[in-house]
Amino acid sequence: MSVTPIRLMGDPVLRRRAEEVVDFDAELRQLVTDLTDTMHAAGGAGIAAPQIGVGLRVFTWYVDGEVGHLVNPEVTPIGDEEQIDPEGCLSIPGFRFDCRRHLYVAATGWNMHGDPIRVEGSHMLARAVQHEVDHLDGVLFVDRLDAEAREAALAVLRDAEWAGEQAYLPAGEPAPVVKVSPH
Ligand code: NI
Repeated sequence: MSVTPIRLMGDPVLRRRAEEVVDFDAELRQLVTDLTDTMHAAGGAGIAAPQIGVGLRVFTWYVDGEVGHLVNPEVTPIGDEEQIDPEGCLSIPGFRFDCRRHLYVAATGWNMHGDPIRVEGSHMLARAVQHEVDHLDGVLFVDRLDAEAREAALAVLRDAEWAGEQAYLPAGEPAPVVKVSPH
């Protein structure tokens, strides 16, 4: 079990497209464990590997008491219905903004043992799946806001107390913070 520091918006790893998993090995199983433990420690509904600095297409979720994970996921909307509700992100701590998402989605991929998985869900699960798959493509939920709302959100986030910091340990207490090294 290992709780891992969470990367914050501004860290370049959050903006890179993550790579497909090729080896379904012990390292992958450890990654899923680290993601699950870190997600629970931070009280999140989901977390994607880039958020702990690992550029692989893996995420976990915890919605309605159910824990799951997907490797190399593909997400497909079911129908045209949308939902607009407050959304947040462990990499953008302390903020929630209304975000438009598909109401129903199906996600396919693999579990950590290499078995094919299909997940269908609505509302919070659908939102979490869309949010986490976005992370694997270097997309943050604030990118999904309407233009005006996005501008307002980015202005607020520039003044966030963690702006310019690299990561925090989701330990419950105020986070010890690592400064970003110039590069
Ligand atoms: Ni997120």
